[in-house]
Parts: sequence; C-alpha cells; structure tokens
Amino acid sequence: MYDFRTLRLTLAAQRSHHCVRNGSPAPHRQRAFSVLRDFVPFLNNDSNTKITSMIPALTPTYNRADLAFERGEGAWLYTTDGRRFLDFAAGIATCSVGHGHPHLVETVQQQAAKVMHVSNLFRIPQAEKLAQRLVDNSFADSAFFCNSGAEANEGMVKFARRAQALAGHPERTEIICMDGAFHGRTLAMLSATGNPKYLEGFGTPVPGFLHVPFNDIEAVKAAITPRTAAVMLEPIQGESGIKVASPEYLRALRALCDETGVLLALDEVQCGVGRTGKLFAHEWAGIKPDVLSTAKGLGGGFPIGAVLATEAVAKGMTAGTHGTTFGGNPLACAAANAVLDVLLAPGFLEQVQARAKLLDTQLDKLVKEAPGVFSERRGLGLLIGLRCVPPVGEVQAAAQNAGLLCVTAGDNVLRLVPPLTVTEEDCMEAVSRLRQAIFSNSHNNKTVLEPTP
Ligand SMILES: Cc1ncc(COP(=O)(O)O)c(C=O)c1O
Repeated sequence: MYDFRTLRLTLAAQRSHHCVRNGSPAPHRQRAFSVLRDFVPFLNNDSNTKITSMIPALTPTYNRADLAFERGEGAWLYTTDGRRFLDFAAGIATCSVGHGHPHLVETVQQQAAKVMHVSNLFRIPQAEKLAQRLVDNSFADSAFFCNSGAEANEGMVKFARRAQALAGHPERTEIICMDGAFHGRTLAMLSATGNPKYLEGFGTPVPGFLHVPFNDIEAVKAAITPRTAAVMLEPIQGESGIKVASPEYLRALRALCDETGVLLALDEVQCGVGRTGKLFAHEWAGIKPDVLSTAKGLGGGFPIGAVLATEAVAKGMTAGTHGTTFGGNPLACAAANAVLDVLLAPGFLEQVQARAKLLDTQLDKLVKEAPGVFSERRGLGLLIGLRCVPPVGEVQAAAQNAGLLCVTAGDNVLRLVPPLTVTEEDCMEAVSRLRQAIFSNSHNNKTVLEPTP
C-alpha cells in the first residue's frame, strides 16, 4: 500500500520526465515510477519508455500531416510558415464556399456580435428561416438542426423508428445499411457503419443494424422483414471510395420501400448541400427520400447538421422527443443561411456542374496518361475519386509535396473535394499540380509513382 504523499512524489517524478529522457532515472525516481505503475496499472510495462512518453495534450486519434494553416482565401490555404496550398480537401467536403468567403465571414461576425446562443427554449428566427429555405428547396416538410453528421444520422434513425411506432409498428426498428457505409463515430453510427475496424475495442455493437451489398436491390429485398424500419444509405459512398448508387438502384429502392412500408433514409452528410451540382444528390435519380441527414457543407466550416423529413416522418417528433443544446443556435443557422445565399443564387449549382465537367475531362486525360498511377475516375459533381495503382497514401503525399491537398478514401481512392466556389483556373492548376506530382520527368513519360517492373 502507498500513501498519498508517495503518490504525489510519484506524479511529480512523472512530470519531470525530461530527466529520464536524458538518461537513466535516478534510483529514487526509479522507485517512484514503479510506485506509479502500481497505482496506474494500464501504464505497467517493462520499459521506462512507456511511462515517460506522455500522451499529447491533444488526444492523438488522427494521423495529422505536419502542416498548420493560418489563413485561407477561396480554394487556397496558407501555412504559418508562408507556404501556399490548393485545397481540394476543403475540410473533407465541408468548406463549401471556400475559405474566407466575405459573405459567410461577415454574417458570422455580425451574428456573433449580436447573439450566439440562446437555447431551444426560445424561438430562433435564424433557425426558422433556415428550416423554411431547406423545406422550400427539397422534398422535406420539416428540418431538425444538430451539430454534426453523426448526430444527424442518430436523429434520422430516431425519426424513422418513431414514425414506424406511431404508424402502429413499434416492432419495426431494424435499419438495413450498406456494406462500405460510413455514418459517423457515435456508438450507434459505428454499428450502422459496420466496419469492424472502427468497432474494435468499443464493446458490443448497438443492435438493430444489418448490412447488405451496395447497389444490389435483390439483397435489400431479401433482407426486408416485418421488423425493418428503414433502409439507410449514402447516395454516394464517400469514405469507402466514392461509390455512386446508380439512379436505377435508387429508383428501385424507392419503389421497394413504398411496397413494403419501409422508410428510405438517405445520408447526404458528404454528398449533399450542392456537392454534386444539385442541392441534394438523390435529385439526380428523380426520387424523394422519407428522411435525410446532412451536415459538412451546410455551415461552410461552421458546425451544423440537419435531419430533413417529410411530414409523415417528422410528425412524431413532438416536444421532448429529441433535442440537443447547441443544435440550431443563431450563429450556426446564420452561417448556414449565408451558405445557402451562395448555393441557391441563380446559376450557382449549374456552375458547380460546369466545374465538375471541366475536372472530369482533365482528370480523364490524366488517368489515360498515367495508367500506372490511376486506374479509374469516379464520382459525381465535385465529389471525385481517382482510384490509384500504388498505395493512395503515396499519391496523396506526392500531391501535397506539389502543393495540392487531397483526401484519401477506401478502395485505394484519392478523393478530390474542392470548395464548390472553386474557379476554372483553380481546377486547371489542381490538375497541373497533380500531373507534376506524379511525373518525375516529362521526356520518357514515366511517373515517380509507377511500380518498377
Ligand atoms: C456520409 C457521412 N455520414 C456521416 C459522417 C459523419 O459526420 P461527422 O464527422 O460530422 O459526425 C460522415 C463524415 O465523414 C460522412 O461522410
């Protein structure tokens, strides 16, 4: 047994870890460390290294590139040491109107100076306005605001289950999800995602989610039972490698859901809010979901998520059934309204489509030029994937060295998700930087990334 004085001494020794880094700990410190190991069993390890290598203050759940940005302008980011990068990562499809957009910045500044947060115990005119605009421009009759994509998806599942319960089917709780899905990192959304890698070490998965192959209508048919509440999917799977649901599949899903009383729940967290050149990606298939989640680009970098639903689905969500402290606060909604001012301006979404077409043409050329690096271009609008031959991490690193920021995705895919405000010049520059990144010299057309035969 140890007294608290010993423990205090021990902790002090741990704090003075530099003395260990610089050589062997003094005997009294060795004793103190061994005491600490007994007090903190998870630190128990044969070597002193473990006990002395303290966890960073910022929990290291990300593999971060050694780049720190101090400002941005449009599709460009500037590092603290003065370097300039073309940002085709856009906060992972989040900075929809680019960096430092004057209208978004001014709106946030002005709203912050007036009132940021009041709680949902009061009316919030900015949220009412935002909800009305989303309703006017989509399938939905009602919008609930939250703070992130995962939270929007949690809400979407609650909306679907409650709608089924109120329709006389409380037993309909199961959600059919897709292989390769990504729905976020909360416990339930990890289960909806279904990737064992993300579930490892987090205990029993939340029940009620099952998985079928993506783009396979027969698989969904076979999986529907009297317990099914909803089919939940991303119209374009982002994290797993920019896999687009075919319009025929989405239409067949809609028909199947109508026949069986199952709700169609779309996760448009990544592919929504103008990313494909329509406000929502499902519009390309000419269908309407029953409920939809969105986030990322909605606030242009300011955190906000939303669940959009038809009246039939939303009517069960009465006072007290759901809530979130920050959701729909004046500042977040002002930011999202500013984003919508840009996105809904006449001609803007057509411009997104035009930029996408330009990039598609240029990237198709590059894929042809470098078959040893890229095997395929995929995607819709400004949600673009380039399937790589060498490990995608190497291609991403080469692009970064050439001053172009991209994101990796599953299936060895390089993801290009520029701000929706990206200019033609930016698009040409991005392709040029990518070309520069992969070709070591132009005279023999060999690329640095091509595997040696
Ligand atoms: C399709 C999709 N759903 C949900 C999420 C989770 O969103 P968030 O990270 O805001 O919780 C993501 C994030 O990448 C996503 O791409």
